[in-house]
Amino acid sequence: MSFPDINGKLTEKLIKSVIIPPKSKIVLSDKSYQIKILGINYLDQIMELHQLIIDRLIRKDTLEPFTTEFMKEHLGNKGFIIGADYGKKLIAFRNVYFPDINEKEWNLGIDLGFDESILHKVANLQMVCVHPVYRGNSLALIMNGNAIRIIKSLGKYDHICATVSPYNYWNLRILFDSGFVVKKLTTKYNGKLRYIVHRNLKETQRFDPVCHESVVLTDFTKQYELLNKGWYGTGLIINNESAGPNSYEKMLFVFCKQT
Ligand SMILES: CC(C)(COP(=O)(O)OP(=O)(O)OC[C@H]1O[C@@H](n2cnc3c(N)ncnc32)[C@H](O)[C@@H]1OP(=O)(O)O)[C@@H](O)C(=O)NCCC(=O)NCCS
Repeated sequence: MSFPDINGKLTEKLIKSVIIPPKSKIVLSDKSYQIKILGINYLDQIMELHQLIIDRLIRKDTLEPFTTEFMKEHLGNKGFIIGADYGKKLIAFRNVYFPDINEKEWNLGIDLGFDESILHKVANLQMVCVHPVYRGNSLALIMNGNAIRIIKSLGKYDHICATVSPYNYWNLRILFDSGFVVKKLTTKYNGKLRYIVHRNLKETQRFDPVCHESVVLTDFTKQYELLNKGWYGTGLIINNESAGPNSYEKMLFVFCKQT
């Protein structure tokens, strides 16, 4: 089976995107920043950081920009935003959104074929941004951990979903480390290639330890085939024998079969 040709466009071509490290990094100690749930008073700082990150993206299609209005909805009863404050400056944020059952774009339970009766139990990890000079401090992983803990404590949600671009190696790896598995490869947000990742808060997913397969991160046809057979993407490994330094072709995507 080949990857679907949605809107008559060609499927994404293989690319060799180079990973460009930020020019300088700031190493944070645990006590130097504060993780908190942000109030509406942070909206301007959130939008500023959001814009800075969009401006500096190597691949613009890896992040779906939000309008100020939509961002504001996350700060109210449709979600929450966790932020990292460093000396009164917002250096990172992570959005959580509680989609309505009929919000086709945002309720990822619909994409995963969930029964309508459980769509109200789906929460989204929506957008995560870390200022480039503060990357490498695991802020996204820390904020995910806090977000998941808060979602669990609300007692209303059994499923957490997110989308991630296959070209966003960093975020994909962090989502695996946060307990997610890749369940679907599709197009979202007007034709952008996305994995849909899922974490079941009620059940731990178990995988057959002997039945696994590694696929190059950009071999979407093979990945699509495995996902359609019911396999899940569970991790990434770097294959040092593969071609080219710092390219996506060095990375292998591990697929496992559920037991
Ligand atoms: C995804 C993201 C939030 C991760 O940031 P983070 O929590 O700081 O990442 P980590 O601490 O796990 O970084 C691990 C390593 O990867 C590097 N890294 C992380 N993101 C990177 C990026 N976008 N470009 C280059 N290197 C990156 C870090 O510098 C670090 O390197 P080191 O081990 O040499 O120190 C961040 O890359 C980001 O803000 N990206 C842009 C927004 C985005 O794409 N969000 C996801 C879609 S909504």
